[in-house]
Amino acid sequence: MNYRHIYHAGNFCDVFKHCILICLLESFAAKDKPFFYLDTHAGTGLYDLQSEESAKNPEWQQGIAKILTQNPPFPKPVADYTNCISQSNLMTGQNLHYYPGSPYLAKLLMREDDQIILNELHPEDAKLLKCNLASDSRVSVHQQDAYQALKALLPPPIKRGLILIDPPFEKMDEFESIVEILPLALKKFATGCYAVWYPIKNQDAVKQFHRQLKQLSMTNVLVAELNVLPEDSRFQLNGTGMLIINPPWQTKEKLEELLSWLWKVLSINQQGHYRIFEL
Ligand SMILES: C[S@@+](CC[C@H](N)C(=O)[O-])C[C@H]1O[C@@H](n2cnc3c(N)ncnc32)[C@H](O)[C@@H]1O
Repeated sequence: MNYRHIYHAGNFCDVFKHCILICLLESFAAKDKPFFYLDTHAGTGLYDLQSEESAKNPEWQQGIAKILTQNPPFPKPVADYTNCISQSNLMTGQNLHYYPGSPYLAKLLMREDDQIILNELHPEDAKLLKCNLASDSRVSVHQQDAYQALKALLPPPIKRGLILIDPPFEKMDEFESIVEILPLALKKFATGCYAVWYPIKNQDAVKQFHRQLKQLSMTNVLVAELNVLPEDSRFQLNGTGMLIINPPWQTKEKLEELLSWLWKVLSINQQGHYRIFEL
């Protein structure tokens, strides 16, 4: 396991992923019933953007730093996201010293009766995750393989839930692993909302992923993608995507507003595009 999220925290992929996560968490919190959130690849929860690792290649400058230079009005998930960034930096006296990862955003946005289940395999990151979040009584932290965790932790005791699957894509067969695990997870918890993040580096790989997903005959699946560069650009990472199975009501409309704003702010010289479609 070489991947450490500290080297990438706050980059344009994180902005995209975290704004969509906030949009989904808010839809769940709109009802007066508790829900649970499972983060299968949780990372450490909070990232020091002034650390040596982050300074090596400060990807956050093309991500969260761009968002914080914008003036309102913001789409609602962006307004709540910037509010979470402020709350994560209250003690520092700075606007952006710490960047909150998905577990920390969930901690800031979820209510007293909601449950947060976090899973991280990397021993050091799992330790940091526990330090950053385990004191919250709503949170439980696990350290096992994400796909084993899905099998072991589903179905959840609370029957409304959001599952974020956010792998590092270190392994060549990560797309195939996702296609394999989704039917098993859905069999255990068919009504859950699953948000699966993926990088857009190679269009053929993404097209193949969509084709394989279609063969699973899932219903009610949304795809949101944001490319900050043209598809054929020489850079490694041109875009980012999220697959959303069983999205809450009106997610598509909310994402239209969100992604059109994010594309204007994050795209490099207004290149690339965004798109949202039903698979
Ligand atoms: C992209 S990062 C997660 C970022 C986090 N979800 C966030 O948005 O703040 C991916 C994480 O998955 C962890 N990881 C890698 N392989 C894993 C596996 N098989 N099971 C669980 N976690 C794994 C990595 O250590 C890394 O912390």
